[in-house]
Amino acid sequence: MNVKELETTARALVAPGKGILAADESHGTIEKRFAAIGLANTEDHRRAYRDMLFTTKGFGEHVSGVILFDETIHQKSLAHVPFPEVLAKAGSIPGIKVDTGAVPMAGSPEEKVTQGLDGLRERLAKYRQLGARFAKWRAVITIGNTLPTLPNIRENAILLARYAALCQEQDIVPIVEPEVLMDADNTIQRCHQVTEQTLHEVFDALYDHCVVLEGLLLKPNMVVAGKKCPAQATPELVAELTLQCFRRTVPCAVPGIVFLSGGQSAAQATHHLSLMNAQGPLPWKLSFSYGRALQDEALKAWGGKPENVAKAQKVFAARARLNGLATKGKYEPKMEQDLVHA
Ligand code: 13P
Repeated sequence: MNVKELETTARALVAPGKGILAADESHGTIEKRFAAIGLANTEDHRRAYRDMLFTTKGFGEHVSGVILFDETIHQKSLAHVPFPEVLAKAGSIPGIKVDTGAVPMAGSPEEKVTQGLDGLRERLAKYRQLGARFAKWRAVITIGNTLPTLPNIRENAILLARYAALCQEQDIVPIVEPEVLMDADNTIQRCHQVTEQTLHEVFDALYDHCVVLEGLLLKPNMVVAGKKCPAQATPELVAELTLQCFRRTVPCAVPGIVFLSGGQSAAQATHHLSLMNAQGPLPWKLSFSYGRALQDEALKAWGGKPENVAKAQKVFAARARLNGLATKGKYEPKMEQDLVHA
């Protein structure tokens, strides 16, 4: 294990003004995204879409790295260049999703456990040869009346730790993603409690599995009220409770926390991140690893049509720039105008 290299990669991913684009939608997930714009889920469409995003002018300025799906890391761009090479040339680090999805947990089927450890050592070695320098594994924690259960949190934490140890063995930075879902009707306080407990168990398992904290990034949810909760929190309360939760649970040896957007709107996700960074200095870099909050507006502007590529790229670049500002605490909601005029 080359700890120096791991640390250098992790720090580059959270360099000031930069964050990660999660573009690792599985075939099932991208099908849902394409359905929203009435586009068939074909390999050519997936290639054209990712090509549109990755060839945006100035891509690497605010996008430090991209999480790819297995198909994409093997694919070539429309100009016949392997996608990892396209990204590296743009100054962005290629990454790869390595879990194979979440399935119902035996004994508590309303909760999920993530699969993908079998053969992971060999897959990681291959992905590294293809250019990947970081990876992602997503665990899902479900809030409900009697959920989550402790066994579910612990099982997911152990899986995350075993994945992270395997990544570091291959000099690949693990992004450790325990996502507490925001779909239910729970209060923000309940999200705080579950997120705190989850992170506590995750860092306990990482310690037990000898994972080097300096060579990983944490990808968590923000602390928010569930989508169906009638009492939605103000952006200021989200920032305050999220920071409180992470100060309690995340050691300062971790170089960075890169949030998922999880169903927040693009503007909300940018605003929350900026409010937190405005309260710095903080023990870790706080940045983004957004999927929907970086892509939704550009996907809509693109609509699957080659003639819309330039417009969609402008929209993508504008959102990436706003999130870059948010990593410095310098975004303001009035800047949303930039998107209207993109
Ligand atoms: P969202 O930002 O759309 O939640 O996606 C991030 C991600 O990679 C979830 O695993």
